[in-house]
Amino acid sequence: MSSTQHIVIIGGGIIGCTTAYYLSHHPAYSSNTKITLLEASKVGIAQGASGKAGGLIAKWAYPKELVNLSFPEHIKLAEKYDGENRWGWRFLECGSWEGRARAPEETGTGAGKQDKRKSLEKTLGLDEGWKKKRAALGLPDDLDWVDEALTDHYSSMAPTGDTAQVHPYLFTASMLDFAKEKGATFTPGRVTEIRTDSSTGTVSGVVYADPITGELHVIDATHVVLAAGPWSPHILPSLPIIGTRAHSVTIRPTGKISPYALFTEIVLDSDERSTQATPELYARPDNEVYCCGPGEISQVPKTVDDVEVDQAACDSIIENVSGISEQLRDGKIDKRQACFLPIIDISGGPIVGEADSVAKGLIVATGHGCWGICNAPGTAKAIAELIFEGKISCGNLDSLHPSHYLA
Ligand SMILES: Cc1cc2nc3c(=O)[nH]c(=O)nc-3n(C[C@H](O)[C@H](O)[C@H](O)COP(=O)(O)OP(=O)(O)OC[C@H]3O[C@@H](n4cnc5c(N)ncnc54)[C@H](O)[C@@H]3O)c2cc1C
Ligand SMILES: *[C@@H]1O[C@H](CO)[C@@H](O)[C@H](O)[C@H]1NC(C)=O
Ligand SMILES: *[C@@H]1O[C@H](CO)[C@@H](O)[C@H](O)[C@H]1NC(C)=O
Repeated sequence: MSSTQHIVIIGGGIIGCTTAYYLSHHPAYSSNTKITLLEASKVGIAQGASGKAGGLIAKWAYPKELVNLSFPEHIKLAEKYDGENRWGWRFLECGSWEGRARAPEETGTGAGKQDKRKSLEKTLGLDEGWKKKRAALGLPDDLDWVDEALTDHYSSMAPTGDTAQVHPYLFTASMLDFAKEKGATFTPGRVTEIRTDSSTGTVSGVVYADPITGELHVIDATHVVLAAGPWSPHILPSLPIIGTRAHSVTIRPTGKISPYALFTEIVLDSDERSTQATPELYARPDNEVYCCGPGEISQVPKTVDDVEVDQAACDSIIENVSGISEQLRDGKIDKRQACFLPIIDISGGPIVGEADSVAKGLIVATGHGCWGICNAPGTAKAIAELIFEGKISCGNLDSLHPSHYLA
């Protein structure tokens, strides 16, 4: 390519930041290429789902064409940059746990189940009878931070080696740091418009507002990557993306927590009516447990800084997980947070590719649903190829092309 290229990335979530990384580390990246990442938050990058997700990376995630690309890339990145220390990379076990919750009034010093629990701890690793009972429930020996007496069933969901994790905020921030080391620029700015050259049908730039002053600026671009997560339709309204809000909390448990991700089904017997709660619990290497509740379709506010946290939703997660784990019940609540997932309205997705029906040079990379942390490296690698090589060759992402989603 003869002249200079200016690639503008809209959105400093995991997709935007990882894209900046893969672009700036592509062999064709040179001093003729400028990369600018714009982020609408006053606070900085990854204030949405990319900072507040669980961070599971799984071979069994979907869609397969992206997972197949992304899982090996996560491993490579972790090896190259000491992801273990930098962003909490590690493999962990993953299983489904079914059982009952201890009612809140039972949680004090009491008789019955409480005693059973105590004797369990004393015999840890000694009592063969105990081991047999745990095996019948399917409970692994080292999964000692859920109450055995309340467990109905545990089953492993994937073989060892098929599930890993990252701390999503630390991963995202690291990707942008490495991109900046190679010359990419971070600019606070909320994009209000993508401009197109009407004679060529190619993107020509973007208009953005300063998050603090509101002052408008224009920058020229040869390529625009739209990676604004659930906010993407605010810029390109024809995208079929809706926001789903989900709450989560992080807890510093008492005692060391073994590395498990648990998908729970907790039966709550209230007023003889059986209801269920299904929080997900992810143990993290710095001895933090991330717990998230269900999602609800909800209006996406103007910016990520305006997302409201419903304290009652957080309380309900805390109560539910406290009902199955003494270590969590007695732990210290650290964060109470909410964020929006970008979900495709008509199922499928994510949407990855050039939206040439809208404008040449406009690349869409959004709609990653509940697997955006897992699928970011594959998405970003593909986009870097698309921009520098003119086509995606690392995998076949035809089914994710914007033409399937845009009129
Ligand atoms: C509770 C929960 C748990 C999850 N757990 C996992 C998990 O375990 N594993 C997994 O793989 N995925 C998980 N996810 C999904 C994952 O978090 C998302 O798919 C992913 O973060 C989406 O990244 P993104 O960059 O597309 O969007 P976002 O993180 O939303 O980032 C978009 C960014 O664009 C910015 N922006 C918006 N509008 C503009 C504009 N006009 N101009 C400039 N910037 C703009 C926003 O401020 C934001 O920073 C989870 C999600 C939730 C909610
Ligand atoms: C993904 O990889 C698996 C295992 O290697 C393979 O069986 C499958 O066909 C791949 N799927 C896609 C869509 O690439
Ligand atoms: C658990 O979660 C459900 C559903 O969110 C909620 O109704 C209930 O009050 C929570 N509390 C306990 C103790 O389980």
